[in-house]
Amino acid sequence: MLTRLRAKILKVLHRPVYFDSDFSDRQSQDQKNILLFLTPHLFTGKSILHVGIRNSEIAKRFSSYATFIDGITIVKREKRKAEKLNLSNYKVYIKNKYRKFSLGKKYDIIIDNNLASYGCCEKHIRDIFESYANMLNNKEMIITEIHGLQHHFEGVTKGFDYQKLKKISSEFSLFVNRIGSMYVIKKI
Ligand SMILES: C[S@@+](CC[C@H](N)C(=O)[O-])C[C@H]1O[C@@H](n2cnc3c(N)ncnc32)[C@H](O)[C@@H]1O
Repeated sequence: MLTRLRAKILKVLHRPVYFDSDFSDRQSQDQKNILLFLTPHLFTGKSILHVGIRNSEIAKRFSSYATFIDGITIVKREKRKAEKLNLSNYKVYIKNKYRKFSLGKKYDIIIDNNLASYGCCEKHIRDIFESYANMLNNKEMIITEIHGLQHHFEGVTKGFDYQKLKKISSEFSLFVNRIGSMYVIKKI
């Protein structure tokens, strides 16, 4: 109830609607599907950005294959848990993705299971695309998932569908490919 009220107030104030509760012990269907899609081969020699690290599942499984993995979260507890893993090539930053951001690096793969779920409006969603397009190495990809993409905050934010994803991606010279329940977005 309070979360919904807070989200509605944030929306009226035109501020990004975000959850800062600890998700580190939860796993959603979209996250499970992303984990099934990812393989050690895909990560080998690659730089990765994981948006919304939750339980650091991706870093736990794939850090030994990747060149490095960076993660962002807005939950300090998730960051502390990530640091306790002591993975030398895994670094976590506190960042709100609904504000344009950069970590001063380029990534081969950006993984975001709820790409647009909590954006209060298209401006904030465009800010995400701009950040991701700027951080993406040429020809590489952004991975998201169909259920995670449709997920939204009932009555506050709107879900995103394939058509909307294609339209906004094209504005940033990105091209969307659907593979099973995954959306793979690449530079044109
Ligand atoms: C419900 S999932 C959402 C995952 C999704 N990738 C996202 O960013 O919305 C919760 C995870 O996403 C993170 N998260 C939620 N809102 C965020 C935001 N605005 N910026 C960065 N991470 C966020 C949380 O810290 C947590 O790790």
